[in-house]
Parts: sequence; C-alpha cells; structure tokens
Amino acid sequence: MRLALLGCGTVGSEVVRLLHSQSADLAARIGAPLEIAGIAVRRIGRDRGELPVDPAVFTADPFDLVKRDDIDVVVECVGGIEPARSWLVEALRAGKSVVTANKALLAEDGGTLHDAAAQGGGDLYYEAAVAGAIPLLRPLRESLHGDRVTQVTGIVNGTTNFILSAMDTTGAGFAEALAEATDLGYAEADPTADVEGFDAAAKAAILASLAFHTRVGAADVHREGITEVTAADVASAKAMGCTIKLLCIAARGIAADGRETVSVRVHPAMIPLTHPLASVGDAFNAVFVEAEAAGQLMFYGPGAGGAPTASAVLGDVVAVSRNRLAGVRAASESAYADLPVRPMGEALTRYHISLDVTDRPGVLAAVAGVFAQHDVSIATVRQGAAGSGMAGRDEDADLVIVTHVAPDAALAATVQELRGLDAVRSVASVLRVEGSA
Ligand code: NDP
Ligand code: HSE
Repeated sequence: MRLALLGCGTVGSEVVRLLHSQSADLAARIGAPLEIAGIAVRRIGRDRGELPVDPAVFTADPFDLVKRDDIDVVVECVGGIEPARSWLVEALRAGKSVVTANKALLAEDGGTLHDAAAQGGGDLYYEAAVAGAIPLLRPLRESLHGDRVTQVTGIVNGTTNFILSAMDTTGAGFAEALAEATDLGYAEADPTADVEGFDAAAKAAILASLAFHTRVGAADVHREGITEVTAADVASAKAMGCTIKLLCIAARGIAADGRETVSVRVHPAMIPLTHPLASVGDAFNAVFVEAEAAGQLMFYGPGAGGAPTASAVLGDVVAVSRNRLAGVRAASESAYADLPVRPMGEALTRYHISLDVTDRPGVLAAVAGVFAQHDVSIATVRQGAAGSGMAGRDEDADLVIVTHVAPDAALAATVQELRGLDAVRSVASVLRVEGSA
C-alpha cells in the first residue's frame, strides 16, 4: 500500500514516526506493508529532526505527487481550503483513497470531496478532523446508523477549554489565561481560529452532517467565541453552581411549520457542575451524544497534538487500506435526510442575565415586564442588596435572572430592551445556560 503524505508538520511528522515504529503490526493488520512513496512539504530544506524516512521521498510539488499512478492512499496533513481541496479532488477523482485531518476544508466544502470520492470509487476518511484522537466520527457514521441521534453537545476545542478552565480555577481574566495558553504551547501565535470559535464551528458542521444525515457547512453554524467572557461571568457561573464552556451544540428540532430541522451553534455557555462536560478540564475534548435508542454516550480524550491526532489518521489509513485490498469501499456519504438548518433566532436556549440596576421600588416590575413583553418566562431571580458586594454603588443592586427555555431571538430582544431601561445601569453579563441548572 503506497502512501503520499501531504504535510510533515505537527501531525504529519508523527504519522511518519508511528508508521515506522508500528510498521510490522500495521502490515499484519492490513495484510500488506505500508510504504511512504512521497512526502510533500512547503520547505524541503526545513530541519525536521530525526525522521525515520528516506530524505529522497520529500517533494515540494504536492500536485505531482497526488497524480502519480503508483499512489494508493493520499494522507493530507496540511490544512486550509486551497490548494488542499484541489489536491484531494484530483486524488479522489483518480480513484485514490484519501485520509485527511483538514476540518476547515471538510466544513467549507466537504460535499465536493464526497462527490469526488463517489466519482472515483475510493474512500474519504477524516476521523482526525474532529476531537483529535477520540474515536467519534466512526461511531457516528457507522455504529449509530441503526439509531436516531437527537443531539450532539461537545467541547471540541482544546485551546479554549484550557483558557476557560484556567479562568475557572484561578479567577484570571481572558487575556491572562490566553497568555498562559500561549506560553504552554496550547494556543497558536495567532489564536483567532480557536478563541473566536471558527475551529469549533468547523467541527460542529462535520458532527452535524454525520449525526443528522444532512450536509451542514461552516456557514450554517452560529458562532460566538470566548473573547468576551470575563472573570465576572466565571464568578457568576460559580455562584450558580456552574462553569463556563465553549460548547458546540447540534440538535434536531421542529420548525413552526412542523418540519424537522437541525440547529448548529457554537458559543460559550454555563453548564451545571453536575453535567458530564463540566469536569472536562485543561485542553481535553469531550462529546456527549444523545440518541433515541442508545441513550446518552460520552466520548472523551485528547483533542489535539501530533501523536494523538496521528493515531486517528493511522486508524483511517488502516481502514482505507483494508478496503482497497478487499476491493471494496466504505459506505458513501449519508446526506439523504437533507434537513433544513434552522436560524439561531429559532434555537431554543436559556439565558443567564446579570444586571446592574437602581435599587428603588418598581425596578423589578419594570425588568420583569420586559421579559413578559417578549414572552420569555423567568425561572429564577437573585438580587444582591447594595453593600452586599454584588453591586458597585450604595444605590445599586445586582439582579441575576435565569430564564426558562425560549427562542434565542426573543431572549436577545429582551436583553436589547433591558439595555435601554432607565433603571438598568448596565447589563453586566449575558450567557446562555445549557443542561439543567
Ligand atoms: P503544521 O503547520 O504543523 O504543518 C503543516 C505542514 O503542511 C507542514 O509540513 C508544511 O510544510 C506543509 N505545507 C503547508 N503548506 C503547504 C503547501 N502549499 N504545499 C505543501 N506543503 C505545505 O500543521 P498541523 O500538522 O498542526 O496540522 C495539519 C492538519 O491537521 C490541519 O488541517 C489541522 O487543522 C489538522 N489538525 C491538527 C491538529 C493539531 O493538534 N495540530 C489536531 C487535529 C487536526 P513545511 O513543513 O515545509 O512548512
Ligand atoms: N486548535 C485546535 C484545538 C487543534 O485547540 O483544539 C485541534 O483541532
């Protein structure tokens, strides 16, 4: 089985090492030896440390490599949309099998890759693209195909989970926790994709596509990052017996016209400490899958890093290699349900709202009236009297309101109107609440 490896960075170099150290076992499991026929990189002369591979296999021409007739499997560990898409489409249309860790490409234009695979007759596997080492996509695309998945809720970005965990543990602010994540090598020099939720949104799109048999792209995902989460939000969550996590949530729902829909969103949310995802700390990932017959399933482990991600890549390489030797291909993409994606405004959520208000008669009634106007039901109200430490000035009070479930648009409109209320000095914090708090 001859492999073309595209990219030899954090993940690709570990793929090379694992392939070398496990070569006898991999050959026994597949029924044929794996051979790296070529490695495409950007900078041929780059120092790659001790890599157990013949330097002659390196090339700076990925197109030339994927076009070669002697290649069976293309393993893509480069990332980005182009030129990776063109390389993979070329390989798939020519009948090669592809293993990729490229979540950005799959979320942006996975359909084109699936179509090319169907056209060429090879496999397209991408276990490493979501939650690194955690076996998650195979269960969704195979094991759970006898069931009906209703919701997928996950922590799928290690960098932001590290930052939020640090803020929760030490009381640090976002900037301080990000600096620590950068120092420890979790956050990249440009952390935008992680902290603004783009990385998690790409993964959410992939998970939703598999769970609901529907093509969902990154553009379909409502996305909010964690840059606005403050130490005060974290303290507020703690006071409620909660913690804050960046969640990806993909759920089935029913639209006003009775049609089944899916909603896919990524945003920070308060979850109770009793929720299975609350104890997922540091840079770990975990995904909670709910299915009608199976019930609740939890997948947990390292979601990033060279070796863990290479483990998932190699698992896929074994699977597609076995298929090629047997002359078969895995089941095609399952997108038959083609469910419409519901806009965020229609998603049912709960809000935790912390207000700095004037402490005088009628204020609570005025605030409650705004909720009532938008048909939002209040679940709990907590007021910290002036001088309690919850409020800044003597004539102020802190009002913390948690709502029942309501359409997100109604909740957002409520907050917007509260901002304009005379008695409300400021809206100190607004967070969605997931799980039963
Ligand atoms: P790196 O930046 O460490 O490595 C990228 C590799 O691609 C490098 O070897 C680079 O070459 C090569 N490359 C970049 N551009 C080109 C080009 N135009 N032509 C040829 N080669 C090119 O990335 P990672 O290993 O971290 O990530 C690879 C993929 O895996 C991405 O899709 C990422 O999202 C995904 N992933 C990464 C995880 C992680 O923990 N790092 C976890 C899960 C998924 P050179 O070495 O010469 O610079
Ligand atoms: N930047 C990602 C994370 C890498 O922090 O989880 C894995 O996709």
